[in-house]
Amino acid sequence: MTRAFALDLAHGRAVAVAIDDADVGPPDELVVARQFGPARAREFLAGRRALRAALADLGGDGAVAIGRGPRGAPVLPAGWVGSVSHKRDLAAGLVTADRGWTVGLDLEARAPRPIDIARRVLTAGEAAAVAALDDDARRRLVVRTFAIKEAVYKAIDPHLGRYVGFHEVALRDPRDEAAILEVPDAWGLEVEVTCQAHGDHWLATARARRR
Ligand SMILES: CC(C)(COP(=O)(O)OP(=O)(O)OC[C@H]1O[C@@H](n2cnc3c(N)ncnc32)[C@H](O)[C@@H]1OP(=O)(O)O)[C@@H](O)C(=O)NCCC(=O)NCCS
Repeated sequence: MTRAFALDLAHGRAVAVAIDDADVGPPDELVVARQFGPARAREFLAGRRALRAALADLGGDGAVAIGRGPRGAPVLPAGWVGSVSHKRDLAAGLVTADRGWTVGLDLEARAPRPIDIARRVLTAGEAAAVAALDDDARRRLVVRTFAIKEAVYKAIDPHLGRYVGFHEVALRDPRDEAAILEVPDAWGLEVEVTCQAHGDHWLATARARRR
């Protein structure tokens, strides 16, 4: 298995692997994968390999089958939490020891998208903050904000257990490298995010816990 990258990030160990034709994995994972079409099965199994690689790097069991929760999140062995993202031919897994935080990972191509997704992703405040930028710079920040919010969704879903719209959370300033996220107080959650450029991708992570 070739690793595309392996990084120690603020919210855990991230490992990415190529999505190849390997139809291999522990029997429990193959049972799940066979419910999917071939392309989705390959990305699912590659995501599991990435998670196991990250788990092994941290001293965990690098042969364990990784489950799938009722809402789609990966279920790691007791003592660990993790998250998965795929983008084209890459699958990435983020793993960390369970210290009360749940985590989320998202991988997005940095190039601006042909279709402008700003209205779907940005709140009015976020849109105002980037309005004066040239179109290329603005669209890049829209994709960065999208990656952050998808990572946030994966981290908060175990606590909220419901669909959360993109306008329910906001970056204080999408231009700010520090990426400070504002979430409704009523959620009772503490949520932190990071986002870094890695080659052609944005690599966004989030973690959440009850206050
Ligand atoms: C679930 C969602 C975030 C997945 O993102 P995506 O860009 O489509 O796909 P990715 O490859 O990045 O992620 C897929 C992985 O997400 C994980 N995932 C799916 N549902 C999940 C959930 N409810 N909670 C946590 N992780 C979940 C799975 O690990 C899945 O991969 P796997 O099935 O192979 O294990 C996205 O489809 C979605 O529904 N988003 C809408 C809500 C949202 O993002 N709101 C933002 C405001 S907080």
